[in-house]
Amino acid sequence: MSLEGTQLPRRRPLDGRRVLVGVGAGIAAYKAVEVVRQLAQLGADVHVLMTRDATRLVGPATFRELSYNPVITDLFEGHPRLAMTHVTLARQADLLVVCPATADLLGKMAGGLGDDPVTTTYLACTAPVLVVPAMNTAMYHHPAVQANLAQLAQRGCHILGPVAGKLATGHEGMGRMVEPHQVVEEVCYLLHPCKDLRGRKVLVTAGPTREPLDPVRFLSNRSSGKMGYAIARMARLRGAQVTLVSGPVALAPPQGVEVERVETAQQMHDACLRHLPAQDAVIMAAAVADFRPVSPHPEKLKKQDLFARGQETWSLALTRTPDILAAMARLRRPHQLLVGFAAETRQLESMAWQKLREKGVDLVVANDVTRPGAGFEADTNAAVLVDRDGQRTEVPLVLKEELADRILDWVAAHLPPAPAAPAPPSTPPAG
Ligand code: PMT
Repeated sequence: MSLEGTQLPRRRPLDGRRVLVGVGAGIAAYKAVEVVRQLAQLGADVHVLMTRDATRLVGPATFRELSYNPVITDLFEGHPRLAMTHVTLARQADLLVVCPATADLLGKMAGGLGDDPVTTTYLACTAPVLVVPAMNTAMYHHPAVQANLAQLAQRGCHILGPVAGKLATGHEGMGRMVEPHQVVEEVCYLLHPCKDLRGRKVLVTAGPTREPLDPVRFLSNRSSGKMGYAIARMARLRGAQVTLVSGPVALAPPQGVEVERVETAQQMHDACLRHLPAQDAVIMAAAVADFRPVSPHPEKLKKQDLFARGQETWSLALTRTPDILAAMARLRRPHQLLVGFAAETRQLESMAWQKLREKGVDLVVANDVTRPGAGFEADTNAAVLVDRDGQRTEVPLVLKEELADRILDWVAAHLPPAPAAPAPPSTPPAG
């Protein structure tokens, strides 16, 4: 069956995972509605717990409809064994998200108090906890709140945000809750089952480069950055510390990834070489321009100057850009893995083997950019992977994130063993 042009079937990332969402009484409680909706759409079994005051901001019925589960708003009312229910949920949870985490909730959690469904569940929960604070700027900066946050972080809670921005009071300042999709991405990160790249550093390139003709025009290509961004996101979900060197694209930076933005091939070259020494693996998915105008014009080119005296054509002198992949292959140390892409319009596989030899890389990911649904701009891609040991793997048309995972499988399997963690200091003999 051909998958081209169809919605690809895919296991949802949170299928089978139970996520508890504890909602505090902050205006940002409305954002928790979207968090719950998105978590449920990704397959999670979502259970919402609310403080009594939170129910005055958002109705429990909204959470019930979006989570497909009853909402716990009171420790004792409505169910003879309700006091047991949140404890049972806490025991069976894969993750507890406290969102929004108000100053009051932070204080109770840090102090070990439990007098509502959220704090009692927190105390009973042995699963990881994600705390998403939101409050007024002065409250956030109060030493008591900072001390509570520090204590929760020290106890192993993951703290996400807050960020600076417009607050409910209309003022700009620190204390705004991060956006719902960022909470959901953090949940995906914390619950991702495979962390085989933990402790590894991975450099990824993505997007096109722009080679200026004059201040308003440039030579470029159709790369959207989707392939490289998918690799960066999946590498981070698998535990890597990821640096993404990106040409100009319209995509949001993947969460938890350090992004360096560049425009030209020369800038991408300089950024990559600067980051290279620290990396365990480098994956170059960017569509780097192979040539650029010899001398970009300092002012906007005028057609009356270019086509003077009845001329109908105008010639542009081009010169080569640096071959970044080849430079990386020369400069890398033996333990550093180097993965290149090959964007081909014919003889896909023979070109892939040729690039593997000529560029001196460990793996080439060759994609036929004329195939519908593959290559530039699409959400899907198909590729042949050829490696330094002569192995070939064909990946059919899949979402770019799935192809990214197949590339990262190869990287994880070929990285040299990670250096052993330093031994804990030995305890001096008693007496
Ligand atoms: O961004 P998308 O819209 O998602 O599209 C994805 C993609 C088609 C851009 C991607 O899958 C892809 O094929 N990337 C490589 C595109 C490319 O430039 O291919 P190439 O065969 O011309 O280059 C081979 C390799 O050399 C690539 O790893 C490239 O990053 C690198 N290169 C190329 C030229 C240059 N001057 N320096 C380089 O390092």
